[in-house]
Amino acid sequence: MDVVRVELGDRAYPIHIGSSAVNSLREWSVPFPRRQLVVIADQTVADLHGPRLAAALPPDAVTLTFPAGETSKSFTAMERLCEQLATRGIERGAAIIAFGGGVAGDLAGFIAGTWLRGVGFVQVPTTFLAAVDASVGGKTGINLHAGKNLVGVFHQPELVVIDTDFLATLPDRDLRAGLAESVKHAVIRQPDLLDRHLADIARIAARDPQTLGELIAANCAIKAAVVAADEREADLRMILNHGHTIGHAFEHLLGYELRHGECVALGMLVENELARRRGLLKSNDAARIAAVLARLGLPQRLPRAVGAADVLAACRIDKKVRAGAVNFVLLAGLGQPVRVADIADAEIEAALAIVAAGG
Ligand code: GLY
Repeated sequence: MDVVRVELGDRAYPIHIGSSAVNSLREWSVPFPRRQLVVIADQTVADLHGPRLAAALPPDAVTLTFPAGETSKSFTAMERLCEQLATRGIERGAAIIAFGGGVAGDLAGFIAGTWLRGVGFVQVPTTFLAAVDASVGGKTGINLHAGKNLVGVFHQPELVVIDTDFLATLPDRDLRAGLAESVKHAVIRQPDLLDRHLADIARIAARDPQTLGELIAANCAIKAAVVAADEREADLRMILNHGHTIGHAFEHLLGYELRHGECVALGMLVENELARRRGLLKSNDAARIAAVLARLGLPQRLPRAVGAADVLAACRIDKKVRAGAVNFVLLAGLGQPVRVADIADAEIEAALAIVAAGG
């Protein structure tokens, strides 16, 4: 079992990673026996894995579900769940357990951060993407028609439990999408991890628990260090947004037809092309990253045309806009992220060609 800690002073928390990890949930969460516990899970995860989690919790733990999918990151879904918390008399001392992928974590985390002005929060991710990224760091939120994750709070979990056994049922497409965030961590912080994806590709595809556990632990260590240094994204944490300025725009404009990780992969391709055209990133490094993404089965092209003007407009409403300027995290080399705020519309339009549909 691997343990990575997110060092945030008196809010520091452990991430336990390994096969059967969820069985020890009660051992690691000392306050649980005297707390109201509410599991918030998407219906698919509740059906597939609910009994395993329930077996690890006290019998009076409550489970609330919502329909699987990004559209549940909404005020409507949040309101329904909060009304159920009210009906069940969930008090301030309670803990909410997010059980599922990034949507469950973001939605349940936002509820945990706002219900009665904040209750305890535990993350039990069941997707690779949530394991390597979304479950760590305390970002929570929901989407608006205007854009992704525009409403939310920072609310750190007190415990993250990543049981690699849950990944056995994860569809291949979702596993691949999660690998995009792992590639992102590699290119911004630990370039040697990039080739490990290729060396381990067969073991990853076979869901070998040890390989997945080690890769997840490496990712969590990268993310934990960044979050510990800059919890609220005043500075360093922005590097985690590499690929996301364009990626979020694609996700929103495609009506969430592609997975978040797939859009991040496409976003990295465009942002690396921006960097290459600026002379920041060498062509061979951009090609190497593109080749790894391709080998991992991530998309190289948009599934349908997206207007450049729409991408520009979507970028402008992103959370990363500061003083009216759209912020990008580009690579000045492998492991060398740099923030760039003076990208002209024409540069974005030119770089978008690299992922043009049908190209
Ligand atoms: N997913 C980026 C972050 O947590 O900051």
